Amino acid sequence: MVSSAALPVDIRPELGEGANLVAPERGRWQRAELVSALRGADALIAILRDRIDDELLAAAPNLKVVANVAVGYDNVDVEAASGRGIFVTNTPDVLTDATADLTFALLLAAARRLGEGERLVRSGTWGGWEPGQLLGQDVSGKTLGLIGLGRIGAAVAVRARGFGMRVLYTARSDAPRARELEASRVPLSELVSDADFVSLHCPLTPATRHIVDAAALRAMKPTAIVVNTARGPCVDEAALAEALARGEIAGAGLDVFEDEPAVHPALLASDRAVLAPHVGSATTTTRRRMAEMAARAVREALAGRVPSTAVNSEKVRV
Ligand code: GLV
Repeated sequence: MVSSAALPVDIRPELGEGANLVAPERGRWQRAELVSALRGADALIAILRDRIDDELLAAAPNLKVVANVAVGYDNVDVEAASGRGIFVTNTPDVLTDATADLTFALLLAAARRLGEGERLVRSGTWGGWEPGQLLGQDVSGKTLGLIGLGRIGAAVAVRARGFGMRVLYTARSDAPRARELEASRVPLSELVSDADFVSLHCPLTPATRHIVDAAALRAMKPTAIVVNTARGPCVDEAALAEALARGEIAGAGLDVFEDEPAVHPALLASDRAVLAPHVGSATTTTRRRMAEMAARAVREALAGRVPSTAVNSEKVRV
């Protein structure tokens, strides 16, 4: 039996003949419902709102794989899963371009104050073209600072090159694509003070929680813009809201939040924050590919193979 989050596409063909698919009745699993659905499940297709912890895994004695329909898997206790011989898989690559596109959409929207402009036009109070109206920041030729130059960070760097931007990045080690992308690795302190745009592309780990904190925000230029399409807790949301309110930075483009779906009230109130509801990978094609990839991982695991997208393959024996 395969327990699956409700997905936008029919994954039965990818799961293979005879798979017994159980999905939540009301769009998403409630915790108790998931616990009971997992009792007889061999596989779980999870979404990032599902918190997969040891307590949940303990209630699933037959479980062989947790296929997370996301590239990030901070919602899954991978160590606990490995300890129980359960594979954890994610959906890399297929969402890289969609997420990099949304990153640029937010960067441009925040730089050119499109949220404010849209609200002004819709309010019916726009008085027509004015020389000093909604002046924003240039993007072309500016400096982009990427926190993380993995798959998505590199795809953002590709787009930045099209805008003639200088690209800086920070990472624990030299990124394989840095030379090709002409991206220079600098310490975080240098990145935050030199960049006109700071964009996060790191997984959420203890090391990256609040990597953009009050001190990092204070070090930024007053014209700087922060873009986050990674994970909300990578940015100290209260500190960001404060920096925006005080005019210490010029804007933010945010697709993710510390405690989704809640958003810090000061961010909701900030004209300079462009806010999106965690839609980085939300294109029809990308979401279909993610669902199919997760289903394939389930089929591989249930056939006794190591799923090609397992993030804990060394820790789990087949
Ligand atoms: C979305 O946030 C993902 O990790 O795929």
